[in-house]
Amino acid sequence: MTQSLNSWENDQDYLALVADLLENKEVQELRNFVHHRVTNRLDHSLTVSYISYTLAKKLNLDYQSVARAGLLHDFFLLKVEEVEALKQGSHNNYHPILACANAERITTLNPIEKDIILKHMFLVSKVAPPKYKESLIVSMVDKYAAILEVASPINIRMHKRIIKAIYRLGFAS
Ligand SMILES: [Fe+2]
Ligand SMILES: [Fe+2]
Repeated sequence: MTQSLNSWENDQDYLALVADLLENKEVQELRNFVHHRVTNRLDHSLTVSYISYTLAKKLNLDYQSVARAGLLHDFFLLKVEEVEALKQGSHNNYHPILACANAERITTLNPIEKDIILKHMFLVSKVAPPKYKESLIVSMVDKYAAILEVASPINIRMHKRIIKAIYRLGFAS
């Protein structure tokens, strides 16, 4: 799985679609924000963008919009508690609005890209359902990526515990 999550680096077609965004200084700053405790916001965004792009391409959907808006879906340079402190609503409800406004400062968004960013918290916020299949894909992949990211240290801890238990029970020496 790790390999497929990182394979965006070797996919020239994908890179051509997001190159200008990846060169942006503010987008690069997303690397400085811890995300889901184990990753950073840029790596998370690349994971969401690339998995969604791959799915959208297979399904003959607008994969260009999926790649670009997927990369910008969490484009805000604030910590969770700083978003809450703005008193504009909960982090879940407000950060997509922030991300969309920031994205519009650095690129032009088409209606699908806008919907992808604004609706990516569908089912975990008060936002209305996505208008496009592309938005639904990014929203579902975002949740899938979050589960993967949150679960990875648990898997490692669990794996270590199982190995220790095996040794304690004398099944191995
Ligand atoms: Fe988000
Ligand atoms: Fe996200």
